[in-house]
Amino acid sequence: MKLTDAQRAKVEDLLSRMTLEEKLGQLNQESPSIVGGFDVPFPELIEMVTEGRLSQEEFQKIMDTAQRDYHEEDIRAGRVGSMMGNDPVKANELQHIAVEESRLGIPLIIGFDVIHGLRSVYPIAIAEAGSFDDDLMERTARMAARESRAYGIGWNFAPMLDVARDARWGRVSEGPGEDTRLAERFARAKVRGLQNDRSGPDSYVAACLKHFVGYGACEGGRDYNTVSMAPSQLHSVYLPPFRAAVEEGAATVMAAFNDLNGVPCTLNPYTLRTLLKGDWAFPGFVVSDANAIRECVVHGIAADEAEAGAMALRAGLDMDMGTHIYRDELAAALSAGRISQTEIDDAVRRILSVKVWLGLFAHPYVEEPVIRSYAAGLPEAHRALCREAAEKSLVLLKNAGGLLPLQKERRISLVGALAASDTEVVGAWALGWEKRDCVSILQGLKNAGADVGYYPCGGPEGALDTAEVERACADGDVIVAVVGETAAMSGEASSRAHITLPGRQRELLALLSASGKPVIAVLMNGRPLALGWESEHLDAIVEAWHLGIGMGDAVAAALFGEINPSGRLSSSFPWDDGQEPTYYNHPSTGRPAGKSKFTSKYLDVPAEALYPFGYGLSYTAFAYDGLTVTEREDALEIAVTVRNSGERPGTETVQLYTRDVTASLVRPVKELKDYRRVTLRAGASETVTFRLPKADLGFWNNEGVYVREDGLFQICAGGNSRDTLTEEITVRF
Ligand code: GLC
Repeated sequence: MKLTDAQRAKVEDLLSRMTLEEKLGQLNQESPSIVGGFDVPFPELIEMVTEGRLSQEEFQKIMDTAQRDYHEEDIRAGRVGSMMGNDPVKANELQHIAVEESRLGIPLIIGFDVIHGLRSVYPIAIAEAGSFDDDLMERTARMAARESRAYGIGWNFAPMLDVARDARWGRVSEGPGEDTRLAERFARAKVRGLQNDRSGPDSYVAACLKHFVGYGACEGGRDYNTVSMAPSQLHSVYLPPFRAAVEEGAATVMAAFNDLNGVPCTLNPYTLRTLLKGDWAFPGFVVSDANAIRECVVHGIAADEAEAGAMALRAGLDMDMGTHIYRDELAAALSAGRISQTEIDDAVRRILSVKVWLGLFAHPYVEEPVIRSYAAGLPEAHRALCREAAEKSLVLLKNAGGLLPLQKERRISLVGALAASDTEVVGAWALGWEKRDCVSILQGLKNAGADVGYYPCGGPEGALDTAEVERACADGDVIVAVVGETAAMSGEASSRAHITLPGRQRELLALLSASGKPVIAVLMNGRPLALGWESEHLDAIVEAWHLGIGMGDAVAAALFGEINPSGRLSSSFPWDDGQEPTYYNHPSTGRPAGKSKFTSKYLDVPAEALYPFGYGLSYTAFAYDGLTVTEREDALEIAVTVRNSGERPGTETVQLYTRDVTASLVRPVKELKDYRRVTLRAGASETVTFRLPKADLGFWNNEGVYVREDGLFQICAGGNSRDTLTEEITVRF
């Protein structure tokens, strides 16, 4: 985000004319709050749902009828800087009040959780990152930005950049997986896509890097839980994706809920002031997560809300999401000298800068024709892009005997409640989709002209209909079982202690497998699952994640070989959930898992991942040879030849890893440094070259300093993080 001199002058002019109340108003974000419509206070209503005293349907009915307070009076009085929402008509109404009826006419910045698409929902991030296709990741973000503006949204609370290695955490679904380099590339692509298309006032939005920082390392994979880590870990694993995104020009950052080494990120001066705004010179603004300033009292770092507000502002948190503490308490904090006018003005300046950069003063409203066009339907190009993203994110995990792709003439018994759901395909944090746009797997098979019989039998929740299982086994020549998680089983506040298939799905698969007919599992899930049993008992396994509105057609295209799966895993899958956290880029330890009893492993399950980071099969095969490493002045030049040794064209993701064999801190046994998608026809080969700057071989030490140390390095290349060719080289910096 860069401002022109004229834009900067506009910001300073506004700032000079604002009252203290108007300044504090800019720091205040509101949501449409629920009022009336039920007999009990809202928190008790939530409790009733949680305890099952009120069904989801009854709750939704109440919510749909309840009035909403859009805080019009506060907006008119200049006490609101930002609103949340995705209704373009309402956005225009509220914007009109802010621009035409408030004293200074400062527009609202309207934010919303557009994590993987708004109307045109594409794959959840953990899936899309597995495409290893930066260009695709940028294009989907650009599409999301355009759709956001069409709905009055100028600010996406995305990309989520939390590296996560513990699949028990539900929010692994929202982020780019377990690897820092992939997360960095994802981060850059998403910020470019969201912010860089300046072809018109409605073609870009402000990105919001979240959750700053370390949230993915919450202890035990339990959401919101405490985070402790060494400085070297923080700087080497969790900070780089955010730093990369700031380098790409990201306009905003969201502070994480968690404490980091005892200091909540909401008011952490080291992460916000020293690193983000100091070392990184971040020019935009930082928003809290929902209610997070208030929760600093619960954390036990502030005695009361007023103290929490003053600590947060001093630490560098600029906007308060949803508590009103900034609006109501900072004037007194200023008078008492607990915060300074400079700190207030800095926060206001940053927020006004983003609003000016977004063009909101010149173009605050959504045009009527745009609203009508989306009400009529989605642009075909958006549907096509969602399908492309779905196809490239799907991963083939097992294909015994080349069972897949299927011939269309074969009669299929399609099994599983998820298979017919046209809404579960969108996954967690999809908030703007419409049912009419979603394609279920059943519909996708029908669209493809499959000869298919459908038998729900059971799903992630509820009963198992064994009679129906029998009918399914009797009918088809081959059984396709769609199993996995509902969208609600991943995402925020959705940690699971056990990451095997929920409910009675493994029992369902066992019954299907006992039929003696080939069984293909198509997984719909938001996290890596423990698939030890499935990997040993099923003939084929397709990891289909929650691929978005185009899921059904993409899965059908893969099953019938219209596309050759090219997705790879952005996160490792364990044999058993007791292995979590499971990730490939771990240190060696002094006793790496081996045959001897006295090595780092379990008595009852394997130590290594079932399916490691970067893994994925194809309907063809790829072979590697000829790895060479040449030292240049300030870089290593690496070349490796990959050959399509199978019968069909296919796309391989060639992955480059390194290992710093001996260093002043123990280093991971492998670290991804680069990757390239290569499409080859049968029998063809290509020599792929990577230029690896020597500077990229360094690491962050526990003093938070990036160091480059001479020594022996292993250079590895291959099709996943486990099976690679390796060369060694001694590097001198
Ligand atoms: C939630 C999430 C955050 C989201 C925000 C606004 O609690 O933690 O990712 O952007 O609130 O919905």
